[in-house]
Formats: sequence, structure tokens, C-alpha cells
Amino acid sequence: MITVSSLTKSRAQVRVLDDVSLEGAEGTVTALVGPSGSGKSTLLRCLNGLETFDAGQITIAGHRLAAGPHAPGLLERLRRDVGMVFQQFNLFAHLSAAENVALAPRVVLGLSASDARARGLDLLDRVGLRSFADARPATLSGGQQQRVAIARALAMRPRVMLFDEPTSALDPAMAAEVMEVIVELARAGQTMVVVTHDHGFARRAASRVVELAAGRIAREGLAGA
Ligand SMILES: Nc1ncnc2c1ncn2[C@@H]1O[C@H](COP(=O)(O)OP(=O)(O)OP(=O)(O)O)[C@@H](O)[C@H]1O
Ligand SMILES: [Mg+2]
Repeated sequence: MITVSSLTKSRAQVRVLDDVSLEGAEGTVTALVGPSGSGKSTLLRCLNGLETFDAGQITIAGHRLAAGPHAPGLLERLRRDVGMVFQQFNLFAHLSAAENVALAPRVVLGLSASDARARGLDLLDRVGLRSFADARPATLSGGQQQRVAIARALAMRPRVMLFDEPTSALDPAMAAEVMEVIVELARAGQTMVVVTHDHGFARRAASRVVELAAGRIAREGLAGA
């Protein structure tokens, strides 16, 4: 489902990613760990075309990304199949939880308003927030907002989900409820790459743990090993 081959990227003469190769099989969860500045976010952003790279290649969810600029059409197709959740939830403040989740299915996939809302409600149910469907993001806790953001990313039924430190802006109780949702997705067979500092999560949910250090893969192994 995901193959990264010899990925290399420099910024201002610094090699941010240096000959990174990894595989993520369908239905597996790859945890990406490593110190600050080691290139985790950059790698994740390369995986969904948010950043370009200088050498190497990526195949993800059937799409092939080469070095250099990506064609807009490719990015559009890629984003339907690869969902991303960030540390900051970036929900639309003027839309309810259900509207946030239903927006892309309506606008991008062309679902009717009622079909999109039904899909949105199903997903809110899945993240434990069905009763908050009509709440605005500002009235929700951080953990609830992040769960809405996860539901929103799932609304496109992506083949791969990418998470960049999804719990690091949250207190421990809220982080736990968000991790629970991610663990549940893992059990359901969702292919995912999760940048995390949470070793407990890596042990519970990840199939493989990949450790980056200064842009290179320092260690790679089975979770818990
Ligand atoms: N917009 C940018 N311009 C220039 N350099 C950047 C930019 N963003 C990141 N970098 C540099 O690229 C390197 C990798 O950064 P990246 O954000 O991928 O690391 P990270 O592992 O995600 O770190 P963290 O754990 O702090 O999120 C770092 O040296 C960082 O300083
Ligand atoms: Mg980062």
C-alpha cells in the first residue's frame, strides 16, 4: 500500500530526509518516532504530496509520486485516497461537527446533502460523538475536536490515513480518548502511518515502528521489540 524508496530532500543545504526507504503493507500501522527535527513531519507531508522531494520515489494507495513538482491532477486524486490528521485540528469554526465531516463528501464526491449528512453522522458515531453532531467546534474539548477531525478525514474513505502527532496538543485524558479511536481504526484494518511520541500507543496499535534520526532511518522493527 505504501512504498518509499530512497527518499531524499534538502532544505537550505541540509538533508532533511536522507535515503529513506520503508514499506507499509495494506492493513498495517506504521509508527514513526524520533527526536524533534528528525524529519518525521516532512516524511509524512511527502506521503500526501504536501511537500516535494529531490530524489527517490513514493507509491501510496496506487499513486506514484516522483521527485520534483507534482501535477495538480495527481494531487487531487491522491488526496481522495490519503487522509491526514494534524496536531492542530483545523476544523471549520463556522460549521457544526456534522457539517465539518459532511463537507468533503458533498463538495468533492458530489454526494447529496442528506447522503453526506448520513455519512457524517455514521462517522461521528464511530468516534463516539453522535450526540455532538450539531455542536460548533469551539464548544467541544480538544479531544472531541480531534475526533471530529479524524471523522472528517475518514469521510473520504481514504485507503491510507496519516497522523502527525495527533495527541500532542491534548492533556492525557483527551489524548487517551483520541488514541482509543486510532487503535479501533487499526483493529478495523485501516492502513495508517502515525507520527507519535507515545510508545504505549506504538506497542498497542503499530505493526512496525520506524525511528528517524537526522533524516535517516535509525531503527526499524516490530512494535514492542
Ligand atoms: N519550512 C521549513 N523551512 C526550513 N526548514 C524547515 C522547515 N520545516 C522544517 N524544517 C527543518 O527540517 C527538519 C525536519 O523537520 P520536521 O518538521 O520534519 O521534523 P520532525 O521530526 O517532525 O520534528 P518535530 O518532532 O519537532 O515535529 C528540521 O531540521 C527543521 O528545522
Ligand atoms: Mg513534526
